[in-house]
Amino acid sequence: MIEHEVVLILDYGSQYTQLIARRVRECRVYCEVLGPEVSSSDLAAKKPRAIILSGGPDSVDREGAPQLPDGLLDLDVPVLGICYGLQLLARELGGRVEGEPTGREYGHADLVIEPDSRLFAGLSERESVWMSHGDHVAEAPPGTEVLARATDGVIAGVRWKDRPVHGIQFHPEVSHTARGLQVLENFLYEIAGCRGDWTAGRFIEGEIERIRQQVGDGHVLCGISGGVDSAVAALLLHAAIGDQLHCLFVDNGLLRKNEGQRVMEAFRSHFKVPVTSVDASEVFLKELAGTTEPEAKRKTIGRVFIEVFESESKNLSDEPLRYLAQGTLYPDVIESSPVRGPSAVIKSHHNVGGLPERMNMELVEPLRWLFKDEVRRVGAELGLMEDFVQRHPFPGPGLAVRCLGELVPERLDKLREADDIFISELRKEGLYRSVAQAFAVLLPVRSVGVMGDYRTYEEVVSLRSVDSDDFMTASWSRLPHSFLARVASRIVNEVPGINRVTYDITSKPPGTIEWE
Ligand code: XMP
Repeated sequence: MIEHEVVLILDYGSQYTQLIARRVRECRVYCEVLGPEVSSSDLAAKKPRAIILSGGPDSVDREGAPQLPDGLLDLDVPVLGICYGLQLLARELGGRVEGEPTGREYGHADLVIEPDSRLFAGLSERESVWMSHGDHVAEAPPGTEVLARATDGVIAGVRWKDRPVHGIQFHPEVSHTARGLQVLENFLYEIAGCRGDWTAGRFIEGEIERIRQQVGDGHVLCGISGGVDSAVAALLLHAAIGDQLHCLFVDNGLLRKNEGQRVMEAFRSHFKVPVTSVDASEVFLKELAGTTEPEAKRKTIGRVFIEVFESESKNLSDEPLRYLAQGTLYPDVIESSPVRGPSAVIKSHHNVGGLPERMNMELVEPLRWLFKDEVRRVGAELGLMEDFVQRHPFPGPGLAVRCLGELVPERLDKLREADDIFISELRKEGLYRSVAQAFAVLLPVRSVGVMGDYRTYEEVVSLRSVDSDDFMTASWSRLPHSFLARVASRIVNEVPGINRVTYDITSKPPGTIEWE
């Protein structure tokens, strides 16, 4: 196995823990998030270059609050405590932590920074940061040097003089802390001595080796959805095990216009990875007939997918297929880990659960250590075309969540045409890549209009386009009026059965991105 440097992040429950991990990866340092109950010997076994202690909602003195792993500080590994992490270190080493009766509220704070520290090298004497105004270190432990205070005097940064341990009260990982990345870089490169050589290329080398070790001469089944994740997973697997990989693309009749052909074309001609394509649209639409309730649609689609996938995979290979590839990403892994407690919401609706158990297969998850932007970089490195890498996400249940009401072929076709006009106009205007996700939704509503001399009574399309980094929150895209006008008029003129177009100006929250 190729060795790469690793930084471990102990998650004390902060809403920002994942962001710390993303920032560390941005510094090209591989990192993993672990629960605070991990033992020091397990930590040591991973040979970390550094350990970062996240923030968290608790108070260090509360009975039952998560603590430092026993013996952590004897490992002699550089440690950075952030907020709750700092408070744990301070209390452990003889300082005093004080609570704020108002609880933990975040806000801007101005720091006054002492000159000449390695942690704050390159920062100005004053910096604006994002800080919790709850518990704080009221008395620095013996043997420490205070490196920064907030303007109200609260200790914001400390260094232990005789160990490689630092703590900060503010959050360097959030964008509101203007120079936060610099602080993390200082810690990783200057204090912990990281090289920062975690690149897509190195990931691919290591992962190819890992896949080979896991599957040996076994055969792997990989479902292709048309999205980036499954494509990157398939390319990685193909690079690792060649024709031990068997890819299956199920057309459920709920894809965008020309999507099926486009995906098959990309795999066959461009990536040279063989894929078996199955047109199951009739089965899906027959099973969905008469269903209008969103949750029922999702359930039916999940069930039929499993049935089709299972029966079709039997014809793929003479060899037994012992492994099932899945494009699980790191955020799903972190979100499903029990240490996050109630703050972790598992997006179970995003996955077709139950497949590996039902088919009695072992999972191969080549992307389980990557964030979405890293998947894109790995994809680009593996030769995925720009066009494919930069695609907007498309939900597993496809147009079922965008065709409200009955899923009949005529309505799905209408939606496909309208969506295609919207997306191709976005591309033509150079706007496609500047928005995070865009699509058309067909509403189960008719309204009156006039076309020439005739009164019309037809269906309504709503256009949805959002800007978002992580799809957890999103704001509606401020697309130019002239652009929206052109799209609306093309849709009404070119798509029979649609006589009205609206633009969705709801942000998430309170709206969701999809309408369902
Ligand atoms: P919402 O609608 O929850 O969507 O704001 C957030 C992101 O998730 C996608 N999404 C799904 N993806 N299966 C998927 O694979 C689903 O059932 C599903 N529902 C929503 C959505 O397109 C957006 O990117």
